Amino acid sequence: MTDLPIRIAPSLLSCDFARIADQLQAMERAGADWHHVDVMDGHFVPNISIGPPVVACIDGVTEIPLDVHLMISDPAQYARPFAKAGADVLTFHVEVCEDDAAARRVIGTFRDEGVPKVGVALNPATPVERVGGLLDAVDLVLVMSVVPGFGGQSFMPEVLPKVEWLRAQGYMGHVEMDGGLNAETLPRCAAAGADVLVAGSAIYGSDDWRRCIESFRASAEGVRI
Ligand code: DX5
Ligand code: ZN
Repeated sequence: MTDLPIRIAPSLLSCDFARIADQLQAMERAGADWHHVDVMDGHFVPNISIGPPVVACIDGVTEIPLDVHLMISDPAQYARPFAKAGADVLTFHVEVCEDDAAARRVIGTFRDEGVPKVGVALNPATPVERVGGLLDAVDLVLVMSVVPGFGGQSFMPEVLPKVEWLRAQGYMGHVEMDGGLNAETLPRCAAAGADVLVAGSAIYGSDDWRRCIESFRASAEGVRI
């Protein structure tokens, strides 16, 4: 398992973008640990979201870490703009890399830009062994529990063994899960060994953010005892 504290990371994809500063600040007051920032290029995924200038604006009005999830085809090309924009965690998808050497070059580029934490993500269809040769090089592995591109999709429980596999390898870094997490599915992620739990629609769509985060945290911590 892991000693890392549970981190609840609301995904701003589900916020009201017309009131982004107010919403993110309110989410911090409600107890969020990280803001999960979904970046989509319309190429790696069919949707388009935000880029470095918006992330820089967000960084200017928030206090907690920005967990930037790059769903883009050429992450190395954008390492510097996202590092400068204030990404505290910068995660790319392993599917954009031909092999481990290519993935290590992306990781090296992120490190050279001084990003505090580097992560690698994998899609539901990608076998977890695909990141097995990278575990010594990354601070975080993001196990997607939906096909990336949109918020509000249903959780895919068949990915949970990937989290168990990572912990069985002795991986001590962050294991993050993203997509379809809610009151029912989130504790299952924590029980499998995930410590960073992303939820977009479940938290932003709830009518009491503080109570939602508190109950998610308690349920995740509860399954670890
Ligand atoms: C999906 C994104 C997720 C998404 C999660 O492509 O990476 O972060 O916002 O949203 P929910 O929690 O609504 O599934
Ligand atoms: Zn995400």
